[in-house]
This record gives sequence, structure tokens and C-alpha cells, in this order.
Amino acid sequence: MDSFLIEGGIALRGEVNISGSKNAVLPIMAAALLTAETCVIRRVPDLSDVRFMGRILESVGAEVKFEDGTLTLRAANIRGFGDYDLIRKMRGSICILGPLLARLREATVSLPGGCVIGTRPIDLHLKALQALGAEIRVAGGYVYTTAPRLDGALVFLGGRAGPTVLGTANLLMAATLAEGVTVIESAACEPEIIDLADFLNAMGAKIHGAGSPTLTITGVKELHGAEHDLIPDRIEAGTFAVAAVATGGEVTLRGARPDHMGAVLDKLQEAGARIQRSAGALTIKGGGLVRPVDLTTMPYSGFPTDMQAQLMALMCQAQGTSIITERIFESRFMHASELMRLGAEIAIEGPSAIVKGGRPLSGAPVMASDLRASAALVIAGMAAGGTTQVHRVYHLDRGYERMEEKLGRLGARISRIPGE
Ligand code: UD1
Repeated sequence: MDSFLIEGGIALRGEVNISGSKNAVLPIMAAALLTAETCVIRRVPDLSDVRFMGRILESVGAEVKFEDGTLTLRAANIRGFGDYDLIRKMRGSICILGPLLARLREATVSLPGGCVIGTRPIDLHLKALQALGAEIRVAGGYVYTTAPRLDGALVFLGGRAGPTVLGTANLLMAATLAEGVTVIESAACEPEIIDLADFLNAMGAKIHGAGSPTLTITGVKELHGAEHDLIPDRIEAGTFAVAAVATGGEVTLRGARPDHMGAVLDKLQEAGARIQRSAGALTIKGGGLVRPVDLTTMPYSGFPTDMQAQLMALMCQAQGTSIITERIFESRFMHASELMRLGAEIAIEGPSAIVKGGRPLSGAPVMASDLRASAALVIAGMAAGGTTQVHRVYHLDRGYERMEEKLGRLGARISRIPGE
């Protein structure tokens, strides 16, 4: 397993191109299963999660070509079950269930896995498909679904922690081919849902309200092929923005969408960063004192859970105490103990982490536990004095395109150590 070796203490400076969104591309790839015609997706990041999703689509019979950031997908002859082990290993794969069911009227998938961040149930996905008339049976690690017909319905999709992103994606996709009108209440409002709805509408779907909590889908008989450019990855952009502030540098994010990053930019400003917006770019400047900020993760447009770990790494640098409360995934604090290896002072109290900032961080060997936790460790390593080795960076390869190259071009001393 590869690791990163980081020499800390260098301010990041320069420009970085933001890749297409990982969380947008996974459901959009699944949406290509809704038609026998060819779909083309551009600006696709070369990530292990994308390649993995490609293998999952191939396992149900789709043709997948990935070249120079463009994915060409053709699901002419597909079957309703994929490779058990592939699907089990990636959480995002659950979103093939809705399209397979809608197209073939039966689908079997294994219960999904993914990052180790809480229990991550799929009850809302199943409730949503049941509301359209699907029969569902869970046995032996599989979810079996059948639906001789799918009928539009009114579905309230809010859960214990608010809306579900991939649950909304699954229902949205299934409803495009249902009879009549489906109304989703308490739908996820994330930009990735808008991107999916844009793609589905380009395929001939009739979806209104994407980006709001109420989505209305009028079912159509069939969908056709479409082409689509992905939105930029707001979490990758946010991660580079935090890294700029944590190292006291100045970084311009090319192609980022500040309108998707409101909560993160607001917290960075509160922490003392200066932010400049111009056409097609966003510049984040650190360098002054980092002020402590309190934050609570929430569904969009609140502060994203996928940026919580990175902000915690920054708060280790702040002059004072911050309280970070996690409301989306209950055990998403695995990075705290690793940050403490670098000298951070963090106490976990229920869903909150109390970060006493200001203690100088110094390099140490640390272990990545999930995708965003790994990003936090890389940020902390770049801000710390001395050498930090981040083990198990395969987590980072799932969601950050050539992270070490991009950071290297900004001046970071970071290298990949293969194997071990
Ligand atoms: C997506 C993102 C992930 C992000 C998360 C929250 C992708 C590929 N992944 O994951 O990066 O961290 O949104 O923004 O887009 N829940 C239930 N029952 C369900 C489904 C979810 O109780 O059936 C709960 C979850 O445990 C969690 C909350 O709902 O507490 C939100 O999870 P959800 O939005 O579904 O996350 P994902 O869509 O899996």
C-alpha cells in the first residue's frame, strides 16, 4: 500500500485546476443504465472510485470506455445483477439499483460497503423504491427487487439526519421511467443532485425543482443517449482552499464554483482567510492568525460533512478553542486520534470534537482511515514541522485526482512511496 512522505512547513502558492466532481459522476454513470443508447460524460476525474464504478457497470453488461477525461457508456444489453464483491466494496454502487429496476423491472445488488464512517443504512433507498411499487427482499447480503410496474407516488424522503443524497438519486432515476408523476419531498439539495437532474433531462426525463427540497418527476416511456460536462468537485476545491490557509499560503482554484462552496468559504473567512472571486477562479489567501470557528455539519447548503476533517486540521492551528459537531455520520472522527499523533489537542464529547488550537504540530507517521480523514492528515502534515508519513493513501486515490502532483506544483514537498 502506497504512502505519502511530506516535509511540512512550506506555504502553498500558485494555481490549481479543480477536477470534475466525484460525487456527481458516480450517480451519473449509473444513470447511463437507463438507456440502450450511448452516453458521453466529460471532465471526468481519473479516480479509483470512477474506475471501480466502471467495472461495476461492466459487470451488469454495459460497455465502458474511459479516455482523456471522457467516459463513453453504452448499456445496450444489461442484466439486473452485478458482481457481488465489487458492489459490496463501494458505497456509491447502491445507485445502480434505481436505474436497473426502472429499465429491467428487476434488480439484485449486494448490500454496499464504502468508507468506515458510521453504519450507513439504505432503508431510505428501499422505502423510496417501495413507494413506486417495488417488492423488496433482503437476504444473504443481497437486496432483491422486482417491480412488474412502477407508478409515480408522493415520497417523503427525510431521514434521521435529514435528506439522503444517493437515496434521492436512486428515486429520481427510478421515477424517470415510472407511470405518472412522482413528487419527492425532503429531497437532497446538493449540487450533485442538480447535475444528475440536468443529465437526466438531457436524456429526455422531465424533472423540475432540482436543488430545492421538492422534486417533481413526470415519468416518460424511454430515455435516450446524452452528453454532459460534470460540475467541478466542490470538496476537492474546499480541500485545497483549507490547505492554502493551513500553510499560510495563497492558492487560486481554477474552475471552482464558489456558489457551491458558500458554507466552507464563510468558515474560512471567519477563520481569517481572505477570499477573492473572479470569473472562473477563486483565490484563497492565508497568512494571518488563524481564528477558531465553531461548526456543525448539515445537509447542503450547510457545512458539508465531507469537509469536516479538513477544517479540524485547520482548527489545530487556530489561536483558541473550536467546537466541531458532526450531525451526518456518527463516527466520523477517526482523524482526531491521528491528528493528535502530530501534537493536536482534541477531545471528543459525543457528536462534538473540542479542538484546542495553537499547539505547534510536528511530523509523525499517521494512518489514513477514510477518504476525507486522509485529506485532513495531508493538510496537517503540510502545516507541521518535520516529516509526516501518511500510510494507506489508497483512500485518497479514491477521491482526489493526482493529489500529490497538484500539491507538488503548489510548492509542497510531498512524494509517493510505493508499496510497503
Ligand atoms: C453522499 C456522498 C458522501 C457524503 C454524503 C453526505 C456520494 C457518492 N457520497 O453519501 O460523500 O458524505 O452524501 O453528504 O455522493 N441515511 C439513512 N438511511 C438511508 C440513507 C442514508 O439513515 O437509507 C442516513 C445516513 O446514515 C446519514 C445521512 O442519512 O446519516 C446522509 O447520508 P446520505 O446523504 O445518504 O449519504 P450518501 O448519499 O451515502
